[in-house]
Amino acid sequence: MNFKVAIITGGSSGIGKNLAKELLKDNYKTIIIGKTKSNVQETLKELKQISENCSGFVCDINDEKRVKYLVTEILKENHKVDLLVNNAGFSYYKEFDELSEEEIKEIVSTNLLGTMYFCKFIIPYMEKQGYGHIVNVASVAGRIGLPKLSVYCASKFGIVGFTESLYYEMKKKNIYVTLVCPGAVDTNFYRDESFKKFPHAQRHKKVMSPEYVAKEIKKAIDNKRFELILPKLFRFKIMFKDVLKRFAMWYVSRLPR
Ligand SMILES: NC(=O)c1ccc[n+]([C@@H]2O[C@H](COP(=O)([O-])OP(=O)(O)OC[C@H]3O[C@@H](n4cnc5c(N)ncnc54)[C@H](OP(=O)(O)O)[C@@H]3O)[C@@H](O)[C@H]2O)c1
Repeated sequence: MNFKVAIITGGSSGIGKNLAKELLKDNYKTIIIGKTKSNVQETLKELKQISENCSGFVCDINDEKRVKYLVTEILKENHKVDLLVNNAGFSYYKEFDELSEEEIKEIVSTNLLGTMYFCKFIIPYMEKQGYGHIVNVASVAGRIGLPKLSVYCASKFGIVGFTESLYYEMKKKNIYVTLVCPGAVDTNFYRDESFKKFPHAQRHKKVMSPEYVAKEIKKAIDNKRFELILPKLFRFKIMFKDVLKRFAMWYVSRLPR
């Protein structure tokens, strides 16, 4: 097989769709997974204009059993997986006390558990083949708490911690791990009614394009980079926050108990 195989969750829209295009241009066989049948079908049509070497599946990644079944079927057909991109995710823009219990579960389960399920079922296969690369798409909201995004932030902070831990565990297995933390990107992410009042929706010019973000992710994959924070200016803000946090931790650890 003279091509690499990539699986992208949330490949039917936005960042995932554009990353699929970049991978197809670089001769990857690209398998996209999305939740909405019409989005998966439409995106596949677009992708096939670049290369026929792609396929798509509809799967709600909240459903652990369905994810396990789908992964088994994909691996049976392809016999290898070079790259897994855990990108599917969503949120509502509401204060914590406005979210229903169902909405809380839906956010955590899609963003965090969905990522873990795909890792859980694909890592043993990568281990067996002796190599692999996992990309987890978190967010700047996984590094900084933001109002009206509390549960989304919790899920993305969870992905950041999970991915950092995974990095050490996978290193010895020849599996690379990449963490992606973008700021606002112009995608369907903001389609829910609750985002009408989101500040970035009113300042569209400051938002990154999904094409740009996808190209940067592709570069990070090629360079086997651990962490990608976008836009670049945010790197300094996050670094600054981490320095202060470390100072606070050092101070707290010295307090008498
Ligand atoms: N846009 C931003 O400003 C931004 C910033 C930082 C991080 N991110 C993160 O980037 C990732 C991609 O988001 P995007 O901006 O490209 O948004 P998007 O255009 O709305 O794409 C989200 C993708 O996730 C899929 N998805 C959502 N829930 C799913 C579920 N339960 N099961 C399977 N697939 C599901 C969607 O499938 P269907 O379309 O088929 O329903 C879609 O393909 C997300 O993890 C998001 O949190 C986005």
